[in-house]
Amino acid sequence: MTGDRNLQTLLAGMRPVQRGGEYVYVLWPHGRPLAGGIEAAVREAEGLTVVLPRAEADRQGLAYDFVGAWITLEIHSALEAVGLTAAVSKALTDARISCNVLAGFHHDHLLVPVADAPRALEVLAELSAQYSDVPRPELLLRNETPEDRDAILALTAEAFAISPATGLPAEGEPVEVKVLHALFDATEYLPGFSVVAVLDGEIVGHVISTRGWVGEHELLGLGPIGVTPRLQRQGIGSALMKETIARANAAGESGIALLGSPDYYSRFGFVPAASFGVESPEAAWGDHFQLLPLALWPGGVHGTFRYAEPFMLL
Ligand SMILES: CC(C)(COP(=O)(O)OP(=O)(O)OC[C@H]1O[C@@H](n2cnc3c(N)ncnc32)[C@H](O)[C@@H]1OP(=O)(O)O)[C@@H](O)C(=O)NCCC(=O)NCCS
Repeated sequence: MTGDRNLQTLLAGMRPVQRGGEYVYVLWPHGRPLAGGIEAAVREAEGLTVVLPRAEADRQGLAYDFVGAWITLEIHSALEAVGLTAAVSKALTDARISCNVLAGFHHDHLLVPVADAPRALEVLAELSAQYSDVPRPELLLRNETPEDRDAILALTAEAFAISPATGLPAEGEPVEVKVLHALFDATEYLPGFSVVAVLDGEIVGHVISTRGWVGEHELLGLGPIGVTPRLQRQGIGSALMKETIARANAAGESGIALLGSPDYYSRFGFVPAASFGVESPEAAWGDHFQLLPLALWPGGVHGTFRYAEPFMLL
């Protein structure tokens, strides 16, 4: 069942996007050093096949037959995800569109004849729409328990494998995993503010908020928050954020501070913390250090925010 449901989720959220330009398959000349604009390569006993922009192949005088448009399915699909390629190929075949599939670590890519690209995008949109209305398993939000922690740490490692701060792959274990590990045992840990999102029995998201201060005034410091990559951009992060805000209001907390993209967190009411007189622990964070003042925000609170001790690892 899980596999079927995951496939429905993948199809519903696959977001096909066409890259600019035209692409060709060429057999790379034996012995020539690899150079210039290669987007994919497959080594076989007979030689090396590469995919590169048509203009680049022309510039290098390389021969080709097939000229393709490149469509990326922007949803993150695990390499072991079952059925996505088959479903997409079948839909395109039924529409008499030939298609070559390349699987990258993060996404699947389709090369279709250039002239068929607009129709292929329509077929993929229709396929995706068929699954958008399929009932999804309900998302359960609940308190984290100690038994969940291995799964939460694994999920956090996956979510932060590419650093949101730099956009580059994390070197070794992401620092957010180390911070989270330490937060579980910290005195600033708050039961009721470490929340997991569970879908079909699987932990697919987590958020934690711990005690923080401005001077003597207590507030919450939120983070890390992470969602399983293959299920990102489907509302799970928003559900965790809204749950945290509701819990914070119910618990009589006065505000929540966090470090993150203003583009994302402004939708929940976060504003640059400095606009409320709350200074960032690191001046370089600028407007990325944000505050959500809650109903009980007292006003007159000024000073530098102090996170729970484990954040010193950052
Ligand atoms: C950030 C994260 C928790 C959001 O959870 P999510 O379930 O993917 O997000 P939602 O589906 O609720 O919201 C998706 C929307 O937020 C936007 N969004 C997600 N991450 C964003 C980011 N870092 N910056 C700007 N916008 C972002 C998406 O573009 C999407 O917008 P749209 O609805 O207009 O298309 C999740 O993407 C994640 O785990 N990312 C990797 C770890 C990370 O960056 N954590 C936060 C560090 S501050």
